[in-house]
Amino acid sequence: MTIIVTGGAGFIGSNFIFHMLRQYPDYRIVCLDKLTYAGNLSTLKGVMDAPNFRFVRLDICDREGVNALFEEEHPDIVVNFAAESHVDRSIEDPSVFLQTNIIGTSVLMDACRKYGIRRYHQVSTDEVYGDLPLDRPDLFFTETTPLHTSSPYSSSKAGADLLVLAYHRTFGLPVSISRCSNNYGPYHFPEKLIPLMIINALADKPLPVYGTGENVRDWLYVEDHCRAIDLIIHKGREGEVYNVGGHNEMRNIDIVKLICKTLGKPESLITYVADRKGHDMRYAIDPTKIHTELGWLPETKFCDGIQKTIEWYLTHRDWWQEIVSGEYRNYYARMYGDRT
Ligand code: NAD
Ligand code: DAU
Repeated sequence: MTIIVTGGAGFIGSNFIFHMLRQYPDYRIVCLDKLTYAGNLSTLKGVMDAPNFRFVRLDICDREGVNALFEEEHPDIVVNFAAESHVDRSIEDPSVFLQTNIIGTSVLMDACRKYGIRRYHQVSTDEVYGDLPLDRPDLFFTETTPLHTSSPYSSSKAGADLLVLAYHRTFGLPVSISRCSNNYGPYHFPEKLIPLMIINALADKPLPVYGTGENVRDWLYVEDHCRAIDLIIHKGREGEVYNVGGHNEMRNIDIVKLICKTLGKPESLITYVADRKGHDMRYAIDPTKIHTELGWLPETKFCDGIQKTIEWYLTHRDWWQEIVSGEYRNYYARMYGDRT
């Protein structure tokens, strides 16, 4: 079995590669990644020399390159993690989001049609459903909740989802889609809430909370997401969408306070800054379908996962210090310079 994993030098893709190499030592895993600002090859250094692993630097929008790779590797399965993934960046400049997230998806699926595939799996997000009101805790996203996006990022992901389902209906491509809630864990890029707050707190820097901090996200430990995708590509039904989430809703402000407490840092570091434009209030996944059809349940409780994650950032300073000292710093200044 050969699996092409796109975006495997990023946060979830790298964790998925580690998971698959551990679970299926007889599979061949080919990582295709452009290495944008969010891709970090050092993340993959532990598997780079494994005989059943190959890394290829390639843009998923590069049709010739993608076709050549398919001709060489004859993949059985493609799992597409490659994407521009940060909402704030999509508000600054949507164009690359449309290019990678929509056009790139179509290039990959065209190659799947041309060379044949057992399964094309699209890694999508709960953000395609828009948001839920804070005063209706009884509401959850199901797979039939209408797509109703808020940001250029989520719109580009929804566009890709529609294209994936269209390739299934029109061309009979064997596809599946997972829509997961917010992930956290090792190798999370330091522009996202949890790693950013850990790293800033360690340096006694301000902790920039958008708006009132009351927005709610439904957090899932990254390994649980990887197990869900593993199940879907092996046992999930073709043409189906599976929501992935573990009923773990937390307010942003409570996460930041928890990080302060765990690291022994004062809450006075918390700085309320201007809100994100179009900021979604609440995400909450109903995972009934993946539970009843595939038996998936999250294994890591948030109280354990967040401690493991903080510990990981404490013991892997080299990994994030290299990122923080690079291009990321300019981005940080642009993003937060005039916000306070
Ligand atoms: P990430 O930003 O950490 O990683 C993205 C990876 O894709 C990077 O390695 C980058 O180099 C690569 N990439 C970007 N553009 C590319 C291109 N044109 N060609 C090839 N490679 C390219 O993202 P992540 O947080 O790991 O998210 C992975 C996927 O999961 C995304 O599709 C995202 O929408 C989805 N998702 C993320 C979350 C989350 O909480 N992070 C939750 C649900 C779904
Ligand atoms: O729900 C799944 C989505 O989760 C994925 O599709 C996205 O790729 C992923 O980036 C994530 O999106 P969010 O926008 O929810 O994640 P982010 O870490 O950017 O922000 C989480 C919450 O924290 C959000 O309400 C905004 C807030 N926030 C974020 C940052 C970076 C802050 O208050 N301050 C910050 O500095």
